[in-house]
Amino acid sequence: MNVCAIVLAAGKGTRMKSALAKVLHPVFHKPMVGHVIGTLKQISLAETIVVVGHQRQAVENYLGGDGVTFTEQQEQLGTGHAVYICEQQVSASVDTVLILCGDTPLLSEKTLSAMLQTHEERDATVTLLTTKLANPTNYGRIVSDEHGHISEIVEEKDASDEIRKINEINAGVYCVQRDFLFSALAEVGTDNAQGEVYLTDIISMATTRELAVSRYVCPDSNEVLGVNSRYELSLADDIMQDTFLRTLNDQGVAIQRSGSVVIHPDSVVCSDSSIGAQVTIAENVTIGCRSRIGAQCYLENCHIGDDVDIGPGSILIGAVIDNGQSLSPGSKVIV
Ligand code: UD1
Ligand code: MG
Repeated sequence: MNVCAIVLAAGKGTRMKSALAKVLHPVFHKPMVGHVIGTLKQISLAETIVVVGHQRQAVENYLGGDGVTFTEQQEQLGTGHAVYICEQQVSASVDTVLILCGDTPLLSEKTLSAMLQTHEERDATVTLLTTKLANPTNYGRIVSDEHGHISEIVEEKDASDEIRKINEINAGVYCVQRDFLFSALAEVGTDNAQGEVYLTDIISMATTRELAVSRYVCPDSNEVLGVNSRYELSLADDIMQDTFLRTLNDQGVAIQRSGSVVIHPDSVVCSDSSIGAQVTIAENVTIGCRSRIGAQCYLENCHIGDDVDIGPGSILIGAVIDNGQSLSPGSKVIV
């Protein structure tokens, strides 16, 4: 397969109630579209096209050095329209298009690779990334026939009460055979509750043409979280922070009340050190081995040696604390 990725990032993100374009909102210290592009860099792709529109210049400036090209969607007429306008830009040698949304920052390389593999093995025309959610509200629902084959995707706003009960949802990631994709999109209309060109309509078009529609069910439903609101933004941030804290646990770092601890991913903590409850470790901090950071400390831009004891409630900014030192509770070192 020769795969091109298209990332949809033109929308305003009305539900965020923000002047900043949705895909530029940071999740775990990085704009969410940056996470998506970072993940794509780990898989083998012919090219990556990012569809920009709302705050186009800011999105292009942010991603500029990342080896991606841009297509401008002047009016946000829907996800189907956003993909359709890329047709001329997709290289002639590309046979498969991987479509993603700029607002799903938690997707992993492992999932995308497994999905591409499923698509290839099953020789499918379209492969969808789906998952099952206890609360599927707001996502497009996957409607299947009596044999379990996908027949269509129905958006929440267009769904009957019966369809809203379906808990298998569309993650907004699609692997599509190139020729089918653009021929189908040329025919998609806007007869739906939002008056938009829905990318999801290509599914019913494929089944009508009796083409193979396949699915890869994402085992970790957290990964498909689509960020449309401030609440979902904080959920995504929490999930990434938790994943990072678990990595530190695996490296031998003890963390008390991990839900209350914040550690920047650029900071380093060595094994057998312990981090108390409600501690914040901001960027550029290194902590050696067997050191103890008491509860409610704030550290930024610091170097903490081995066997150091920092008393609870201390604030350290730009500090260098040598091996074996102890700081009393409530210490303040701001350099
Ligand atoms: C979309 C899917 C829904 C799926 C969900 C997963 C459609 C119609 N619906 O819904 O089935 O469950 O994602 O998260 O596709 N965008 C553009 N141009 C446009 C419109 C949107 O670039 O004209 C971009 C947005 O910036 C965003 C992405 O496409 O990054 C998805 O758009 P969004 O409005 O978030 O769609 P959802 O309602 O989440
Ligand atoms: Mg969305």
